[in-house]
Amino acid sequence: MAQSKSKGRKTSFSILEQFSILGYLFQFAAKQWWRFGLSIALMVASSSIAAYLPIIIQQFIDERIATNSVTIQITLTVAGTYLALIIVRMVLVYIKDYLFFMASEYTVAEIRNNIYHKVTSLNMEYFNQTPNGEVVSRVTNDTETIKEFWNVFLQFFDGFINAATVAVAMFSLNADMAWVFMAFLPIVFMLIYFYQKLSTIVYRRMRSALSRVNARISESTSGMWLIQQFNQSERMKKEFKEINDEYVEARINMFRMDALLLMPAISLLEQVVLVIVIWIFGSQILNGTALDIGIIYAFTSYSKSFFRPIGHMISSLSIYQDGLVAASRGRDLLANDKLMPEQVGVESLTDIDGTVSVKDLSFTYDGVQDVLQNIDLNAGKGEMIALVGHTGSGKSTIINLLMRFYEFNRGEIEYDEASIRDYPYDVLRDDIALVQQDAFMFYGSFKDNIRLHGDYTDEEVIAAAKFTGANHFIEALPDGYDTIISEGGSSLSAGQKQLINIARSVIRKPKILILDEATANIDTESEMYIQQSLAKIRETATMIVIAHRLSTIRNADQIYVLHKGHLIEQGRHEELIEQEGTYFNMYQLQTLQGIQ
Ligand SMILES: Nc1ncnc2c1ncn2[C@@H]1O[C@H](COP(=O)(O)OP(=O)(O)OP(=O)(O)O)[C@@H](O)[C@H]1O
Ligand SMILES: [Mg+2]
Repeated sequence: MAQSKSKGRKTSFSILEQFSILGYLFQFAAKQWWRFGLSIALMVASSSIAAYLPIIIQQFIDERIATNSVTIQITLTVAGTYLALIIVRMVLVYIKDYLFFMASEYTVAEIRNNIYHKVTSLNMEYFNQTPNGEVVSRVTNDTETIKEFWNVFLQFFDGFINAATVAVAMFSLNADMAWVFMAFLPIVFMLIYFYQKLSTIVYRRMRSALSRVNARISESTSGMWLIQQFNQSERMKKEFKEINDEYVEARINMFRMDALLLMPAISLLEQVVLVIVIWIFGSQILNGTALDIGIIYAFTSYSKSFFRPIGHMISSLSIYQDGLVAASRGRDLLANDKLMPEQVGVESLTDIDGTVSVKDLSFTYDGVQDVLQNIDLNAGKGEMIALVGHTGSGKSTIINLLMRFYEFNRGEIEYDEASIRDYPYDVLRDDIALVQQDAFMFYGSFKDNIRLHGDYTDEEVIAAAKFTGANHFIEALPDGYDTIISEGGSSLSAGQKQLINIARSVIRKPKILILDEATANIDTESEMYIQQSLAKIRETATMIVIAHRLSTIRNADQIYVLHKGHLIEQGRHEELIEQEGTYFNMYQLQTLQGIQ
């Protein structure tokens, strides 16, 4: 599984793929076009000013100092213009960065929203196959990487526009000298090529070390009880140190590559070009065709402003690669068409009364092995049916289909004689409630957790809590129903969580209530209480119950016994006991254990 995953993960892209990924990103950026556009315009303006500044000094030197015509007034004008332009440029750079930053934040927020939206509408299959951490990473880390990616774009544009404006200024001053700079461009391209090859490897190693560090931290916090129970702390600490060291080493390599390789190379280029410029200048003096001194000043400062931004541009190439990977994952996720099963949504079907019938239903999760085969079930309005069978016999799978978590192709499920596919999701979720064994608690008060943002009054919440008996322990707390439950409900016992969970369903007054091992975590006394409550629900709702403890379903109207996805027995408790089949054996075993 892990192997097939890493095989499927792309890390390098052809030019064509790069364009298609960039297209995906630009499609989100399009809404911010005026911000991006304006900041690029400002980039051109501020680069032009930067390229023009040396020309002011050059003109001052050549036209005033060299001709001995400097006056106080002229000096002040030149200095004033220079200063004013520097200030204007600073302001432009600030606005440019601000606009670009805003645009990239909004763009990425939009992508994050889209991905989250998509994730919530995906088929359960996706969540079965994808580790939790990976889903989180898609929504958070990847979008952050995409944001860095935009900043790289800024660098690219900046470097490019800067080099272009400097080139224009150089050619307008002295074409021969300008060609010297151009002659070095092939070397710059070679540098880009080699740096990219090297940095991709080093950078990738760093990212993977970082993700291992993160994965280890999240794994250890969620599995902390296991770590402490099996006394694994020392081993985990040692392993963590190794992973952490790997990460540090990768970071140091990265730094070495940038600080020792890239910047010195760029600065070497800068100096070599400078030497050549001086050499040309000197030889022209010797030939008697001296250049103006101001020009040499201008070219000295251009040698810095031409190569430096290119250096920055190159150093962000590794992030470009990473951004591509992140963006491609986002794009793939958005293209995932394994959505929640579709509903036709027939308008006349506005509610479910409570009859359930499953006809000749067969189902497979993986398309290979049938988990259910030719299942037939029936429950009249207000009846209670029970599903029993050994572990893995397919009980929860039937529930998954009754809840419309998965699409099925063979057989039919009907509520009130209409296909499950014809109901809008709202109707299914309003009228059918499912209580599973592990109750998830959201961060929030008891009230919020029972209400789950439904439109229920405090009285209804309290009535629901009383119904399940949860009121006893809630009311004993200082803040009562307003007490905050931590995420996941770690401050509550398993039984307490379940009572809240059942109250959640009861408050919705469902027409069909499905219980999958709902009372397995609850002590006998609370269970008795719940059984009484459930007996009351039976008056208003159809119940489908899965229970390992057979004593809890003795009075079901119909008991269905499953074995490896087949229905092997069905009938009332007494009838099944009389048959002396599988149910009889299971029951006997449990009563025997009860006696011991
Ligand atoms: N999401 C899934 N993807 C693939 N196979 C699954 C999935 N859920 C269950 N199965 C498989 O389907 C079969 C039936 O599982 P199911 O959960 O329906 O059993 P069950 O009767 O509810 O068992 P238990 O009493 O242990 O809860 C099992 O072989 C299981 O491995
Ligand atoms: Mg189950």
